[in-house]
Amino acid sequence: MSYKAKFKVWRGEGGEGKLEDFTVEVNEGEVVLDIIHRLQATQAPDLAVRWNCKAGKCGSCSMEINGKPRLGCMTRMSTFSEDETITVTPMRTFPVIKDLVTDVSFNYQKAREVPSFTPPADVRPGEYRMKQVDVERSQEFRKCIECFMCNNVCHVIRDHEENKANFSGPRFLMRIAELDMHPYDVADRQEAAQSEHGLGYCNITKCCTEVCPEHIKITDNALIPMKERVVDRKYDPLVWLGNKIFRR
Ligand code: SF4
Ligand code: F3S
Ligand code: FES
Repeated sequence: MSYKAKFKVWRGEGGEGKLEDFTVEVNEGEVVLDIIHRLQATQAPDLAVRWNCKAGKCGSCSMEINGKPRLGCMTRMSTFSEDETITVTPMRTFPVIKDLVTDVSFNYQKAREVPSFTPPADVRPGEYRMKQVDVERSQEFRKCIECFMCNNVCHVIRDHEENKANFSGPRFLMRIAELDMHPYDVADRQEAAQSEHGLGYCNITKCCTEVCPEHIKITDNALIPMKERVVDRKYDPLVWLGNKIFRR
């Protein structure tokens, strides 16, 4: 069954732009990205959108649909009523390149600022022995598809360009927390989380967790435990050392 839907799509580049109105066909089973592709095919051939897998796994098609960060390829048209006008805009926290495509290099820069896994010098690859519970704990965080919707929605940087230099966002604070939980990682993640990556800016609003398409409990399982470890350490530095030694 087909119907015609009303769409407002943000068009523009170079810091200028506006919402444009479209009326477009929708067929059963389609997702918002299908509709954007139909617009490209029929009415707006130069409409820019980033996508890749169309299966919710590459993290490319992040956009804001009716003001909420969503993956275009995983947002079913059946979740809207047929007479609803659907507004599609680019992610707000990152600069727009063109139309729905944003420049997400902020995230790649922050990724580079997190030192990689740092094992002890006296343990060679192949000699690591981890408890299953430690493996399972980090598996949740490894589901991340790097859609950057958590960083996009976090109020610390969403409307505060000035905080970007000092805040890596939930995606990379989660990465730091994951490494800090790793029994074989010897880098000082806790000091860096506070002083370089802005853990203290997070006031646990949990918006990041709400938008995560992989349903990772970013706040409860990564950020809050990390904050607790930082506080423990502040009051008793031996706690940090003890945790590292006794968990191996
Ligand atoms: Fe996307 Fe979730 Fe990864 Fe954030 S943690 S980048 S919301 S998949
Ligand atoms: Fe931001 Fe998530 Fe903390 S949205 S404030 S990083 S809980
Ligand atoms: Fe890959 Fe949407 S196109 S997640």
